Amino acid sequence: MAAAKQRVGVAGGGQLGALLVSAGERLGIEVHVLDLAPRAPAREHAARFVQGSWEDPAALAELADGVDVVTIERDDVSVAGLAALVDSGVRVEPSPAALRVIQDKLAQREHHAARGLPLPRFAACDEPSAAALAEFGFPLVQKARRGGYDGQGVLLHPEPGIEPLQAPSLLEEMVPIARELTVLVARDRSGGHAVYPVCEVDVREQRLDLLTQPARLEPALAAAAQELALAALEGLPGAGIAAVELFLTEAGQLLINEVSLRTHNSGHVTLDANETDQFEQHLRAVAGLPLGSVRPTAPAAALANIVGSGSERGPAEWSGLEVAESEPGVTLHRYAKAEVWPGRKMGHLTVCGEDIEEVRARARAVQERVRVAAARQQEAE
Ligand SMILES: Nc1ncnc2c1ncn2[C@@H]1O[C@H](COP(=O)(O)OP(=O)(O)O)[C@@H](O)[C@H]1O
Ligand SMILES: [Mg+2]
Repeated sequence: MAAAKQRVGVAGGGQLGALLVSAGERLGIEVHVLDLAPRAPAREHAARFVQGSWEDPAALAELADGVDVVTIERDDVSVAGLAALVDSGVRVEPSPAALRVIQDKLAQREHHAARGLPLPRFAACDEPSAAALAEFGFPLVQKARRGGYDGQGVLLHPEPGIEPLQAPSLLEEMVPIARELTVLVARDRSGGHAVYPVCEVDVREQRLDLLTQPARLEPALAAAAQELALAALEGLPGAGIAAVELFLTEAGQLLINEVSLRTHNSGHVTLDANETDQFEQHLRAVAGLPLGSVRPTAPAAALANIVGSGSERGPAEWSGLEVAESEPGVTLHRYAKAEVWPGRKMGHLTVCGEDIEEVRARARAVQERVRVAAARQQEAE
């Protein structure tokens, strides 16, 4: 047994950070958090909170001071700041060089193209215009190279006539998608890895709506998806959780969509449906502990996101909670977000059971009845 408690510093203190903090409590690992927001969700139980920006090298240095390893819970952490930590002898996971590739959707595509991996056809587009889009060909998908997440920064152009995003972009052929898949991979510090079962993602408005574990795939195709996920991570080193999003095309081909080198919304299912959840696994990996088992604890699981409804921004008010409480096999996770607005991710629910179709239908049914919207003004504190 290690004598002293391991200390992990996390750049970013959102919902993923809060779940890393609670995993740390279970594992006996101290989690220190850096975030700009004084009311960041991860702050409350963090061993130490540094108020500052993950884009600020000085704030990252303050986080690093007093921990054994620094890691991330969001993609847009300063690579220069992390690289400076490495230069000063701090362990950083994942590697800043890998994060640099991931942060730029074009660099990421080029990285994979150079390895001959299957991708949608793509091109760089520095100054998006109607002419540039026409030259690439429709239907296409335009992606801002930097800063997008949850479909922000992604614009579908099924045909000419839609005003392009004004940002340096990546253009891609619009893939006829049969299924969107995600593969969660845990990588340890010495080259070992554990691959979670392939999950299937139903996307609504370009973000995760319903997720199923396992994906409804032939075993050979599921194995191929896991292989492709591992190939996608080659040359992008770093301990911790990585998530690889794949497309299964209508023609039956697997293509890489994107990689992230952190815990991922799709991995929330592991909180209730796998022997080791992604947050515990991430901490184990970055702290140099052996990886835990990725085995599912139920034959089938479905996860549904719960996003803000209504039309206003304000203090969050939940309804329909009794529906989730009374359903067997359902776990509701409400995030520590005081404020809600339409479309804001406020929580998720997981349904575990015996049959994929059954858990999918039940997750949908509960998702429709659990609501979160802005409380009316007079009811607000
Ligand atoms: N080339 C493509 N063809 C068809 N749909 C796409 C393509 N690229 C992205 N999408 C759709 O947009 C969603 C968001 O795109 P993605 O690149 O994953 O951005 P984000 O970083 O916001 O998750 C995908 O999950 C998928 O539904
Ligand atoms: Mg994505």
